[in-house]
Amino acid sequence: MPLPIRPRRNRQSPAIRALVCETRLSPENFIYPLFIQEGTENTPIESMPGCTRWSLDGLLKEAGEAHALGVPAVVLFPRIPDDLKTPMAEESANDEGLVPRAIRALKQALPTLTVITDVALDPYNSDGHDGIVAPDGRILNDETVEVLVEQALCHARAGADIVAPSDMMDGRVEALRDGLDAHGFTEVAILAYTAKYASAYYGPFRGALDSAPKSGDKKTYQMDPANVREALRECAEDEAEGADMLMVKPAGPYLDVIAALRANTTLPIAAYQVSGEYLMIKAGAAGGWIDETKVMMESLIGIRRAGADMILTYFAKTAAALLRA
Ligand code: PBG
Repeated sequence: MPLPIRPRRNRQSPAIRALVCETRLSPENFIYPLFIQEGTENTPIESMPGCTRWSLDGLLKEAGEAHALGVPAVVLFPRIPDDLKTPMAEESANDEGLVPRAIRALKQALPTLTVITDVALDPYNSDGHDGIVAPDGRILNDETVEVLVEQALCHARAGADIVAPSDMMDGRVEALRDGLDAHGFTEVAILAYTAKYASAYYGPFRGALDSAPKSGDKKTYQMDPANVREALRECAEDEAEGADMLMVKPAGPYLDVIAALRANTTLPIAAYQVSGEYLMIKAGAAGGWIDETKVMMESLIGIRRAGADMILTYFAKTAAALLRA
């Protein structure tokens, strides 16, 4: 055939494919979410096969191994004992609480590892919501933001490098920035969960932490999965309030949102491949229906291609090891 344009010429060998490759994946792109609990046990998480709730010792070992493979950062999620959960989530700002102790241990053992913390009340609040619940069931915005500032300051005092508000309250980025700056923490960065959707893909995570809402859902603060223009509004707000990095969550089903943010901000963008996305790959592979390693890598490259600079993923250590091999 007289064909001047033959795109297959650029795919004919591994060497040429490497030259024309548009998107790279590296361990440096990963942020490793880690679950922690009190005590000395490391407990496999039933709702998330392959994931563990770590003791502090287990955390140091796991974070150390991931860091040695080139993963620059971890983000911590605590399981708080039921008797410490209260309506006002006071435990979230306890300097001797699980998260601050974990931050101090990590920074001491692994000084070059970046420690990110989740700022939201759901693990601490007896109602299982990210904010304070009024008697009539409403989630109180401004009252919640005050508590989140105390939580972020507690993490900063313990040595957190980045705080990541995942609560979706309005005005929390500015309040955190002001609070951190007023206390001398001008170098603590804010990774804002900018477009966090009210997603059923979080189910396995809530099982891991026993943090599901006791009543109602999260639709008055997390976004409607149908909306993308609204994500740009959140993006403009977080940017104006001083966020250092933005996040889209979940990742895989929301690649268009990642691309839309990429086109509308100069800030770095993170995407969170959440528990349900992880679990679907694990389950498909456990059934023998898909190739876990290949689907894992394809899911991650897809998220990067959409425009994410960094990916929070439960595959961080496994994928980093594969990329290093
Ligand atoms: C809560 C929080 C959630 C996740 C991260 N932070 C759950 C929720 O919003 O209900 C989900 C992560 C995942 O599913 O992997 N602040």
